Amino acid sequence: MTLLEEKTADTSEEKHVPFIQEIDEGYHVKIGENALHPMEENHYIEWIELIVDEMVYKKYLNPGDKPEALFKVPRGEKVSAREYCNVHGLWVNK
Ligand SMILES: [Fe+2]
Repeated sequence: MTLLEEKTADTSEEKHVPFIQEIDEGYHVKIGENALHPMEENHYIEWIELIVDEMVYKKYLNPGDKPEALFKVPRGEKVSAREYCNVHGLWVNK
């Protein structure tokens, strides 16, 4: 088992840092604020995770899906998101 390093700063043209929006039902998370991450067969976001206070919510994705997730969950004080790209690894919005 390998401990994955959380990356926080995008220096490439591909966008990996999760972008969180508060919505009426909870939170919407997309991968890339302005440009969405590819969702191709060999390069895609495997999952998006939302952490609200001490609760963790996760959505698994497949190639062809949109790189985003809608979490209909209660609002909290501390909110962050992580995602895993099968090529570029683990990213967090810190
Ligand atoms: Fe990627």
